[in-house]
Amino acid sequence: MKNTNKLPKDFMWGGAVTSFQSEGAYNEGGKGLSIVDTRPVQEGHSNYNTAVDFYHNYKEDIALFEELGFNSYRTSISWARIFPDGEGEVNEEGLQFYDDLFDELLAKGIKPIITLYHFDIPLALAKKYNGFYSRKVIDLFEKYSKVVFNRYKDKVKHWITFNEQNSVFGGLNHYGTAPLEGMDKIAFTHQICHNLFVAHAKATKALHDIIPDAKMYGMINFIGIYPATCKPEDVLYAEKLKEFNLVFLHVFSKGEYPTYYTAPLENNNMMPKYEAGDLELIKENTVDALSISYYFTFIADTTKNSDSILFGESNDPTNMYALVSANPYLKSSEWGWAIDPIGLRIILKDIYSRYGLPIFIVENGIGANEELNENNTVNDDYRIDYLKRHIEEMKLAISEGVEVEGYLMWGSTDILSSGGQMSKRYGFVFVNRTDADIKDLKRYKKKSFAWFKKVIKSNGEVL
Ligand code: BG6
Repeated sequence: MKNTNKLPKDFMWGGAVTSFQSEGAYNEGGKGLSIVDTRPVQEGHSNYNTAVDFYHNYKEDIALFEELGFNSYRTSISWARIFPDGEGEVNEEGLQFYDDLFDELLAKGIKPIITLYHFDIPLALAKKYNGFYSRKVIDLFEKYSKVVFNRYKDKVKHWITFNEQNSVFGGLNHYGTAPLEGMDKIAFTHQICHNLFVAHAKATKALHDIIPDAKMYGMINFIGIYPATCKPEDVLYAEKLKEFNLVFLHVFSKGEYPTYYTAPLENNNMMPKYEAGDLELIKENTVDALSISYYFTFIADTTKNSDSILFGESNDPTNMYALVSANPYLKSSEWGWAIDPIGLRIILKDIYSRYGLPIFIVENGIGANEELNENNTVNDDYRIDYLKRHIEEMKLAISEGVEVEGYLMWGSTDILSSGGQMSKRYGFVFVNRTDADIKDLKRYKKKSFAWFKKVIKSNGEVL
């Protein structure tokens, strides 16, 4: 009998980042601009031009990952490095960069886990076609996917289509798109949601054709939701918010839209336009496994305004978290993100019981504002505590029968946050720069570095 108290020998341990938050070199190596390169920079934040210069430092960073004992590392390919204007000629220098990067990882025994798209559509496609609103962009995404699958077929066996695909609800800008004058924002959001599923299915099909032994993962950011009270409105709201997450996992794994999603759309004349063959394509191209990022949970609290619990009727996900609050039983990070390790266990159990597919945790971690101390390190005990408690709960979920393939913490080396903050650090390795000053970008090990090394070495036994 399988011993579910121990993690499998091939359990994947490592870190995760994106190209734009780590690489820098935004205009080098023939790369075109992506939407993140021209995003307005908030006061006190940074642009992504240099990030932590992984583009030039990747060998040094991978040596640190090898020392940590990583056997997996997740990053994304920058679409604009491969197709600078999203269409037209492929950029050989961009392809070569990822070849070199994957070779370096593999030489150190580290499997690349690759996201095709992490919020960074080539700027030209956003401007010319309104991003993923256009079917043309779906086809260009498929073309880009095929190019990278063919190129890296011997090197990369784990692929994620879209980072946190559920971010389309409330985050249309991540897909280089916005409703045109006179369009209904809610209906538009559901159309983009459908377009992304079509793009996801096309890439999944291409992967299975080109690299039959590779795995495709659907990915969402799972924000756990509890009802604030046992008031039925709170429970209903929590359920509806969960459905807005589950719809993605449902389509990824079963290849069809659940009726809890489509019925309200039909009732409100908001059904997206399906082109001939879309639903068959989605049906035939389900994923091999599911993946999640997990950071925090909320409580669904309708006491502020119970009238707006109309989700069941309007299916409006564009402002879905308007009535959530902090959980009084949980402490939070400096950024107000509730620290909820048990929430991870609840989610893993819930997902597995519904879909029965293996789950890969591809992001988890805590952001903190840190500085080097006089010993050139950071005593990040809070990070050790955060990761330890989440890994403990993950292990408990596994001991309760959930199949978890791996655990990737977010950051590994410090990177820029999604909002462009260097002051929000997640890594085991401190990178010497601030928001305003690039400094020398030198790397320093934090206290958590040695701790995580022990965790991996013992395959999660010593926490
Ligand atoms: C995830 C994103 O939602 O959260 C990452 O995939 C992001 O891009 C991470 O960096 C952590 O969020 P933040 O805002 O603290 O960087």
